[in-house]
Amino acid sequence: MKLVIIGGGSSYTPEIIEGLINRHASFPVSQIVLVDIDEGFEKMSIVGELAKRMIEASGVLIDLSWTTDRKEALKDANFVSTQLRVGGLKAREKDERIPLSHGMIGQETNGAGGIFKAFRTIPVLLDIANDIHNICPDAWMINFTNPAGMVTEALLHHSPHKRVIGVCNIPFNMQQSIAEVLEVNPSAVRIEFVGLNHFVYGKKVYANGVDRTQEVLDRLIDQVVNYSPANIVNLGWTETFLKSLQLLPNPYHQYYYKQEATLEKDVKSYEENGTRSEVVQEVERKLFELYKQPTLHEKPKELESRGGAYYSDVACSLMSAIYNNSHEIMTVNTLNNGAISDLADDSVVEVNCVITKSGPMPLVTGALPSQVKGDILKMKAFEELVIKASISGKYEDAYLAFLANPLIGDEDRAKVVLDELLEAHKVYLPQF
Ligand code: NAD
Ligand code: G6P
Ligand code: MN
Ligand code: MN
Repeated sequence: MKLVIIGGGSSYTPEIIEGLINRHASFPVSQIVLVDIDEGFEKMSIVGELAKRMIEASGVLIDLSWTTDRKEALKDANFVSTQLRVGGLKAREKDERIPLSHGMIGQETNGAGGIFKAFRTIPVLLDIANDIHNICPDAWMINFTNPAGMVTEALLHHSPHKRVIGVCNIPFNMQQSIAEVLEVNPSAVRIEFVGLNHFVYGKKVYANGVDRTQEVLDRLIDQVVNYSPANIVNLGWTETFLKSLQLLPNPYHQYYYKQEATLEKDVKSYEENGTRSEVVQEVERKLFELYKQPTLHEKPKELESRGGAYYSDVACSLMSAIYNNSHEIMTVNTLNNGAISDLADDSVVEVNCVITKSGPMPLVTGALPSQVKGDILKMKAFEELVIKASISGKYEDAYLAFLANPLIGDEDRAKVVLDELLEAHKVYLPQF
């Protein structure tokens, strides 16, 4: 079985290698090809050498290589995972700094920054999906590239390749931290998720089949549990908020329900340490120093300071579940197909699915909870506008996407920030 990892130079790659080594008995990958572009070749070589050492030390038989020839790499692939960053961390820095400099949230996947990440990324991922369709049409494309929900919807609507699944570590992280709170094994916890990527809510929490939603909500009050990944603040939720909402918010919801407080914290952190991108660049520099050590044969602990830590568990479990037709339940981004009755069948949603060899089968969760129905519908309409603008490259489409985003809102500020970001990113936006 062959896996191709596009964006192979990512510092997260050793995680996916570890996940594949650990699962080798049930998910026997025999060939891995890392793919990157020229700019990423050096990083990919360092990661590739480490991956080879990890594989050798584990004793499993996997042939690993790396290349910049994507089309060649895709031949006979069974799975393709995409984890790339168009424009690199320098582009992310602008996504974060420019909105912040205008008093708006500056974030990788939310608000103006997330919109521009989509504009840069969607055309590139459409190209990759086309290649997959032509070269290895049966392969499953597992997309991590952010904004993962919008990218997945763009691919499922606008590329001929339909075997595409979007993934994120947030639902998995929430399950892990709630298991800790309830003092049970994570595999005993089932959260019924409903919503969109980075805008997902937990509707019910079951532990060993028993409904413990109320207890979890109580324990979330005032930061008793930190379930924010390394890249997001953890301000905690008030009793009033949780008692009224009766749903588990995800950590990204702080940007929406605690807009002023998160902005204040983010500005402070920006003034002290620079943007999150700059912090990550420093983390990466240190990680790659470690990766270069010929004595290192495993994923270093330091990778945990990245917000996406543990994502490989999600990716590897998903691929293994497809391969084994396991019918396990996992939370992924896929076509709604009736899971949420208020959304179109072809909208991409983040919900629990039964994973089969034919892909994810979403479980019906019914109507959206009325307390968040408007928010989810608005976010979906916003996502559709972003996807449209990513492809059309029309100024008016981009402006409408800006207006529709709840973190932007203001007409005048929308134009100022949009214009500045368009100028700053123009080399990566040929469609505009
Ligand atoms: P990174 O900056 O290290 O980029 C990874 C690699 O992509 C780099 O080596 C770069 O050279 C390469 N790349 C850029 N353009 C490419 C192209 N056209 N083809 C092939 N490779 C290309 O990024 P990272 O921090 O490792 O993150 C990678 C992606 O995964 C980002 O989009 C990030 O937002 C996303 N991510 C998602 C989740 C999630 O929960 N879905 C978690 C972590 C990271
Ligand atoms: C989170 C998210 C990812 C995001 C990442 C950022 O866990 O789910 O979608 O890309 O972490 O982490 P970073 O370390 O790059 O700031
Ligand atoms: Mn469409
Ligand atoms: Mn995510």
